[in-house]
Amino acid sequence: MDWGMKNRISRMIKPATGRSVMLAADHGYFMGPTRKLENPRKMLEPLLPYADTVAVTRGILRTSIDPKWDTPILLRVSGGASILKDDLSDEEITTSMEDAIRLNVSAVAISIFVGTSHEKQSLINLSELVNEGEEFGMPIMAITAVGKELEKRDAKYLSLACRLAAEIGAHIVKTYYCENFRKVADGTPVPLVVAGGPKLETELDVFNLVYNALQEGAIGVDMGRNIWQNDNPVAMIKAIRAIVHDNATVKEAQDVFAENKGKKL
Ligand code: R5P
Repeated sequence: MDWGMKNRISRMIKPATGRSVMLAADHGYFMGPTRKLENPRKMLEPLLPYADTVAVTRGILRTSIDPKWDTPILLRVSGGASILKDDLSDEEITTSMEDAIRLNVSAVAISIFVGTSHEKQSLINLSELVNEGEEFGMPIMAITAVGKELEKRDAKYLSLACRLAAEIGAHIVKTYYCENFRKVADGTPVPLVVAGGPKLETELDVFNLVYNALQEGAIGVDMGRNIWQNDNPVAMIKAIRAIVHDNATVKEAQDVFAENKGKKL
């Protein structure tokens, strides 16, 4: 791996712990103004100091994140479908590598849709992006199973999807936590982060998910709704950071949340 690629990865995955708290805020690329992310600047600014990376599209980056921030950017570069369509898997690459470099991002992200009618298209999109990434020193994150594919959230499906992504050359893979997650992590020879999915009922559910994912081989999270749809988003991200970077237990994370909730931003 070239110096530039390594340097970009170590801006996101912190060398001190080998872990990362990525803040996902790219939902609008197919979901539109998702609840609580209607005004991305307002929601993201207080969270950026606690995020090791923030995942957005170029439109939100240019309009809603001040270039003064040095939070590394994970740029979503796939799209082409919306929630109004039955089939969300019909995606192409929407953003050029030149624009990603112009924006000084630390990695680019693309979804793959294993087992769908656009499986081959999404895997070829990933392979073309990896080819470009290798040329320009840009890490590629492959994202497995968004939208309706979430229904297939089991270790058999996710280990297949994650392994395919790693085999094609993705440098980081994002997937979902599931029962027997260890099987997914063991079969994926690149850093694996977990998304949160739709908002869970309680903070405890979120902390359990993060804690278990790390115990079973994830190196962190790339999480959105379970942070910014919470009424106390800063307390949430701080508590998740405690699990990811300080090896906090679920109980300790609850304490961090309790100490920080209700504080003025
Ligand atoms: C899907 O739109 C994106 O890949 C999100 O970044 C991903 O689903 C993570 O966000 P959340 O934790 O809200 O599921």
